[in-house]
Amino acid sequence: MKRYLWRISAIVILITGTIALAGVRETKHNFTSATYSPNAYFTGARQVCVFCHTAHNGDQATGALWNHETNPPLYTTYSSNTIDMTISQPHEGSLVCLSCHDGTLAVNSLNNVPGPGGAGTYGDPGGAALDGSGKLTASSSAFIGTDLSNDHPVGITYDASKDPGAFQPKTGVSTSYPDKLLDDGIYVECNSCHNPHDNTYSNFLIESNANSDLCMRCHIK
Ligand code: HEC
Ligand code: HEC
Ligand code: HEC
Ligand code: HEC
Repeated sequence: MKRYLWRISAIVILITGTIALAGVRETKHNFTSATYSPNAYFTGARQVCVFCHTAHNGDQATGALWNHETNPPLYTTYSSNTIDMTISQPHEGSLVCLSCHDGTLAVNSLNNVPGPGGAGTYGDPGGAALDGSGKLTASSSAFIGTDLSNDHPVGITYDASKDPGAFQPKTGVSTSYPDKLLDDGIYVECNSCHNPHDNTYSNFLIESNANSDLCMRCHIK
């Protein structure tokens, strides 16, 4: 019996492993699908990428042909006695995420809705993580809010010389760590640790954090 159960769990791991290896369409960031994103989906919506990108009229301030409405509020930033680097309001590599995850804007509020529509909303909200207007609710585990003081700091200008021995020095090479993780080659932002298209390592992490490897790409501890 034990052996039999072990085999079943091996198969389950194989199946879920295969799903996890797939792209954005098989993740919670596919808002057209109640199967992949059971807590947050939009009925009537068919296009996956359009919640974040558009082929035309993309937001130039944000880049990446950004299609999601952005209207950043003033965020409460992280502070502590032991911070040595400069922490400012989040930059683009965080603002793109916070435009949904701070809960102030609807997930389906787009600059360019498919068809001749221009700006507007796309589809009708469903799932426990969304309120009736399509915003993330505060009770959702994905809700970050506008108070970032209890989150890993973002908006940091990375400068290892301000805390010698505690941080990996910059290499000046964009394909090497820690530079590879820095937004615009300078800042620590959400996209330093997360890849919104790929859930292979769960929580949309850019790589495995087993053995805290991800943390050690920057920290020396
Ligand atoms: C939930 C939001 C979201 C969805 C859905 C999404 N993307 Fe993205 N995408 C982003 C963000 C955020 C960035 C910027 C990433 C960064 O700056 O590191 C990005 C960047 C990109 C880029 C440029 C940088 C790169 O990674 O090559 C391409 C190309 C891209 N996305 C294509 C797509 C396509 C194609 C789809 C649909 C199959 C898609 N994305 C769906 C959020 C999304
Ligand atoms: C267009 C809106 C939108 C954008 C842009 C977006 N997200 Fe999400 N994200 C969501 C929603 C909605 C969910 C699903 C919440 C749920 O299922 O409870 C989600 C889920 C997640 C989850 C999984 C949470 C969980 O509970 O499993 C993580 C992690 C995440 N997003 C991080 C990011 C990061 C980092 C970025 C930027 C690189 C980003 N997201 C960009 C709307 C967005
Ligand atoms: C220094 C790395 C790092 C940065 C920067 C970072 N995250 Fe995360 N994030 C993580 C890790 C690691 C987890 C997984 C935590 C866990 O397993 O409990 C996570 C989990 C999450 C989750 C899932 C819910 C939760 O709280 O566990 C969301 C949503 C999320 N991050 C969004 C964001 C957003 C939005 C930003 C930018 C404001 C951001 N993250 C910045 C490392 C980071
Ligand atoms: C992309 C680089 C990077 C990654 C990856 C990273 N950090 Fe950080 N972290 C920083 C920087 C830079 C600071 C600000 C340090 C300072 O100013 O003294 C910081 C600050 C912190 C702080 C607050 C320190 C204080 O003095 O208040 C903690 C705790 C922390 N990180 C833990 C983690 C953990 C845990 C992980 C892995 C999940 C992680 N970090 C991943 C760059 C990173």
